[in-house]
Amino acid sequence: MSTIVAPSLLSADFLNLENDIKMLDRSEADWIHLDIMDGVFVPNISFGFPVIDRLRKVTQKPLDVHLMIVQPEKFVNEIAATGATFMNVHYEACIHLHRIVQEIRKKGMKPAVTLNPHTPVSVLEDILPDLDMVLLMSVNPGFGGQQFIEHSVKKTAMLKEMILRQQTSTLIEVDGGVNLETGRRLVDAGADALVAGSFVFSSPSPEETIQRLKAL
Ligand code: DX5
Ligand code: ZN
Repeated sequence: MSTIVAPSLLSADFLNLENDIKMLDRSEADWIHLDIMDGVFVPNISFGFPVIDRLRKVTQKPLDVHLMIVQPEKFVNEIAATGATFMNVHYEACIHLHRIVQEIRKKGMKPAVTLNPHTPVSVLEDILPDLDMVLLMSVNPGFGGQQFIEHSVKKTAMLKEMILRQQTSTLIEVDGGVNLETGRRLVDAGADALVAGSFVFSSPSPEETIQRLKAL
């Protein structure tokens, strides 16, 4: 099975978003990764519902929504209304993680939990069977183009070990500083899906870069 690739729209050309979305649509990208930031959970603000609603109309690809916001439970209905496939909420932002995970599923989306670099995978022991995916941050969330945190490879392997031990079918997605070199090591450690922003959009041929990431 080839690696799932989810290019992050954060590094796209926001003045020519339609062009970039059409490029992703033509490409072998599996999902489109959308980074929503509120300026509170992370020190940056990105884009919100007006943008997602418009892009939903021009792409067929599944949307992988990564919410870097406090109180994500406030927006389960709104995210569901965008037609998103995955709703990723941060472990660090959810007091009642189990409750929001059930609500995400009830609204027809696949629940995913995201861990910041400092959060150990062990916190997921009890919630793992309820999750379709775990998103491991391999940079501190908030910005594209940051340097990959090496520990993420070991963390991916530890999560894979937990998934095999619990015999769940949870996917592992990794986000931040992904390129062909870090991607190769993450896939070897057990990653199923790779998010890549700057590496895809700053390459001479983003479509070819997506193809090469898929081949990892
Ligand atoms: C960071 C975002 C990432 C970001 C990745 O907060 O969650 O999805 O776009 O960007 P790169 O691939 O450039 O590290
Ligand atoms: Zn992201």
